[in-house]
Amino acid sequence: MNHPIPNASIFSLFLLLISTPWAHPLASLQEDFSQCLSENSEISIPFSTALITPNNSTFLPFLQSSAQNLRYLVPTAPKPEFIFTPLHDSHVQAAVICSKQLGVHLRVRSGGHDYEAASYVSQIETPFVVVDLAKLRSVIVDIQDNSTWAQAGASIGEVYYRIAEKSKTHGFPAGLCTSLGVGGHITGGAYGTMMRKYGLGADNVIDAKIIDVSGRVLDRAAMGEDLFWAIRGGGGGSFGIILWWKIKLVPVPETVTVFTVPKTLETGATKILHKWQQVAATELDEDLFMRVVIQVSEDSKTANKTVTTLYQAQFLGGADRLLDVVQTSFPELGLTKKDCTETSWLKAVMYIAGYPSSTPPEVLLEGKSTFKNYFKAKSDFVKDPIPESGLEGFWKRLMEEESPLVILNPYGGMMGRISETAIPFPHRKVLFKIQYLTTWQDEKEDEGKHMDWIRKLYNYMAPYVTMFPRQAYVNYRDLDLGVNKKSNISFIEASAWGKRYFKDNFNRLIKIKTKVDPDNFFRHEQSIPPLPLPARSRTRGHHHTKQNS
Ligand SMILES: Cc1cc2nc3c(=O)[nH]c(=O)nc-3n(C[C@H](O)[C@H](O)[C@H](O)COP(=O)(O)OP(=O)(O)OC[C@H]3O[C@@H](n4cnc5c(N)ncnc54)[C@H](O)[C@@H]3O)c2cc1C
Ligand SMILES: *[C@@H]1O[C@H](CO)[C@@H](O)[C@H](O)[C@H]1NC(C)=O
Ligand SMILES: *[C@@H]1O[C@H](CO)[C@@H](O)[C@H](O)[C@H]1NC(C)=O
Ligand SMILES: *[C@@H]1O[C@H](CO)[C@@H](O)[C@H](O)[C@H]1NC(C)=O
Ligand SMILES: *[C@@H]1O[C@H](CO)[C@@H](O)[C@H](O)[C@H]1NC(C)=O
Ligand SMILES: *[C@@H]1O[C@H](CO)[C@@H](O)[C@H](O)[C@H]1NC(C)=O
Repeated sequence: MNHPIPNASIFSLFLLLISTPWAHPLASLQEDFSQCLSENSEISIPFSTALITPNNSTFLPFLQSSAQNLRYLVPTAPKPEFIFTPLHDSHVQAAVICSKQLGVHLRVRSGGHDYEAASYVSQIETPFVVVDLAKLRSVIVDIQDNSTWAQAGASIGEVYYRIAEKSKTHGFPAGLCTSLGVGGHITGGAYGTMMRKYGLGADNVIDAKIIDVSGRVLDRAAMGEDLFWAIRGGGGGSFGIILWWKIKLVPVPETVTVFTVPKTLETGATKILHKWQQVAATELDEDLFMRVVIQVSEDSKTANKTVTTLYQAQFLGGADRLLDVVQTSFPELGLTKKDCTETSWLKAVMYIAGYPSSTPPEVLLEGKSTFKNYFKAKSDFVKDPIPESGLEGFWKRLMEEESPLVILNPYGGMMGRISETAIPFPHRKVLFKIQYLTTWQDEKEDEGKHMDWIRKLYNYMAPYVTMFPRQAYVNYRDLDLGVNKKSNISFIEASAWGKRYFKDNFNRLIKIKTKVDPDNFFRHEQSIPPLPLPARSRTRGHHHTKQNS
């Protein structure tokens, strides 16, 4: 049944059409696809488990398994024709070859954390299929070489666990949330608690294996420095399918210190946050990453609605030196020794990810996320401290929403020393990034109300954040910034979001895309577009293309 001869599949489609009018005519797509896969894969594929069709009861649970944003799992959200879960690199190659041959739109999913579900929902065309890399999650750590090969389907938490298993003094500077898939995460940048000391995950990639549009596996030498540049920060789903990353491990001390200190409006949140903005990126030691998590809560004494700012930190060193650092540059926080917990790097990772301290680290091997909800998010970057009056208006707006969440993430240190063009990620010389979220738990909630609220908040913040372009983080994908409406998108439309995510690096990304995938096979709502044919011939021979003039 999984290996039909072509005539039989045409015949059975014919039978389906005449005898069962309710049958989905695309049934033959699945058959043709599995036929093509078995012809194009050196290693045989166990189709009964690797090709998950909607008529199987495991289809929806599997589709939902790693998906993070419940907004895109509602019954009306577009669903793939089937999900293919390769067990071997060559299966992924076959999937690219067959999608191209059969002309079916393909999406690729690693950890499923895409904010707008680009890895498993296509809003621009149907039918589409999902290639899910969840079963490709090897992590090969080489401590002598200070390096690791991580397969795209592994979670970043598994990578951290496997490193820590081999060494107490090696780590990797990527995301805080441990269930992120390394496939999508690192290709969009990947910031975390060690970014001020070592830069982004993408800054610490030394090699990769990617499947290109022809189904070839290319390493760094074979793909060339242009494509290798593009995949380190240019965002997922535009250039090919990343199979493996080779990452450079960084030194971490045996003792790492963490703390969380809350400040409410009643305990001076506004003035303290004003000071944090002036020191977090510029004055505090690079070993210290102190983010601010902002929520609306009830004041414990008055039961009034208030804003809580949580100062949550990881310090690469012991508590005594940490206290020195904070008391020198940021005494307003009032940090004391009893706020501080000394622990290992891996336990610090788990603390920041929100696991209770008694959780065994093996939970990281499950690659499961700790929470899921309906959410909408947006991001901004800040270069000059927001004045207290600006913060006060901000608090007022936060208190109008049920479950707002805002996270301020300090830059400085190594981030500011890496050039804006070193990789596509351009946000280097800023004080901090803002992430705004609104979340809800009930499917029946009015989504529009929450969307309106966050869009208005975003408008309110305009005077305080980067402009021309108003920068945004590609890993916090935001479809409000613009969407590729057709498979044949113009790059001028795309620059609405492209310039915000990549600044002028967007131009180089377009050129590389035009070279490696001119027919735009790898595409989604916000994938890098190739130059249209007329523009290609116009700019031939010129070193710089002037897309926006
Ligand atoms: C709860 C939560 C916490 C987060 N915390 C952080 C954080 O601390 N730091 C940070 O930097 N970001 C963070 N992010 C954002 C995260 O980095 C991005 O959502 C990232 O794209 C997730 O990668 P993924 O593989 O899990 O997602 P997916 O949804 O699988 O993929 C994301 C995009 O990449 C493409 N893609 C997936 N796999 C591949 C592949 N193998 N090759 C090529 N393209 C691929 C997809 O098609 C999609 O376009 C967070 C997100 C969430 C939901
Ligand atoms: C599910 O659908 C596929 C493709 O249409 C078909 O080959 C298979 O027989 C179906 N399985 C069941 C149990 O109906
Ligand atoms: C449904 O999927 C499961 C797991 O992927 C597989 O074991 C089972 O054989 C499938 N059932 C049918 C009827 O295809
Ligand atoms: C690995 O890192 C350590 C510590 O940074 C360094 O001393 C050593 O030379 C590195 N080894 C290699 C092979 O790069
Ligand atoms: C907060 O609570 C106190 C005591 O319950 C009350 O007097 C005060 O007016 C409240 N403040 C606001 C801003 O609601
Ligand atoms: C793409 O768009 C161009 C002009 O915008 C048009 O000439 C061309 O036919 C389109 N191609 C496809 C495949 O739609």
